[in-house]
Amino acid sequence: MQTAVYAGTFDPFTNGHRDIVERASKLFKTVHVAIAESTSKQPLFDADERVELTTQALEDFGDKVVVEKFNGLLVNYVAATGADVIIRGLRAVSDYEYEYQIAAMNRELAPNIETVFLMASQQHSFINSTIVKEVARYGGDVSSLVPQNIGKRLKAAFHGR
Ligand code: COA
Repeated sequence: MQTAVYAGTFDPFTNGHRDIVERASKLFKTVHVAIAESTSKQPLFDADERVELTTQALEDFGDKVVVEKFNGLLVNYVAATGADVIIRGLRAVSDYEYEYQIAAMNRELAPNIETVFLMASQQHSFINSTIVKEVARYGGDVSSLVPQNIGKRLKAAFHGR
C-alpha cells in the first residue's frame, strides 16, 4: 500500500483535514488529496481555488502530498492514480453511519479498493467546513481552525480585505 487518496469537497480545507493528511503521510508513501469538482454542496470557492488554497496549505509536505481535483466516481479516480486505499477521517460517532454508507458503496463498486479510517485528533473533532465558513462570515476568529492562507482568503471572501 504505497499510495492513498484522501477525498472531499474541502470548501475550505481545515486544520482537521490537515491533521488527517499528516497521519496518512506517515503510513503511505504518497497521499493524493482529491478535491471533488462537482458536488451537491454549493461551494464558496470553485474547484481551482480549492486546489490552489489546499496546495499552499500543504506545501511543507513536498512530493509526499499531491493535490488534484477530480470529477465523477471517486473509485475511478483512485484506480487511475494507481492507489488502492481511500482514507477517511472519523471525528465522532455521528460520522459512522454516513461513512459506513460511502465505504460500503465504494466497496461494491471497486472491491479491490480498501477504505482506511483515521481518527481525527480530539482538538479538531468539532470542526467542519460549514462551521468554519459561518464563523468567518460573521467576523469570528478562525485562525486556530484553518491554515493561515485560508484564513486570509475567507476574510477577503466575506469582508473584502
Ligand atoms: N476535519 C474537519 N472537517 C472534516 C473532517 C476532518 N477530519 N472530516 C470531514 N470533515 C467535514 C468536511 O469538511 C465536511 O464538512 P461540510 O459538510 O461542512 O462541508 C463534512 O465533514 C463531510 O466531509 P466529507 O465526508 O469529506 O464529505 P464531502 O462531502 O466533503 O466529500 C466525497 C465526500 C467527495 C468524498 C464523496 O461525496 C465522493 O466520493 N464523491 C464522488 C462521487 C462518488 O464516488 N460517489 C459514490 C461514493 S458514495
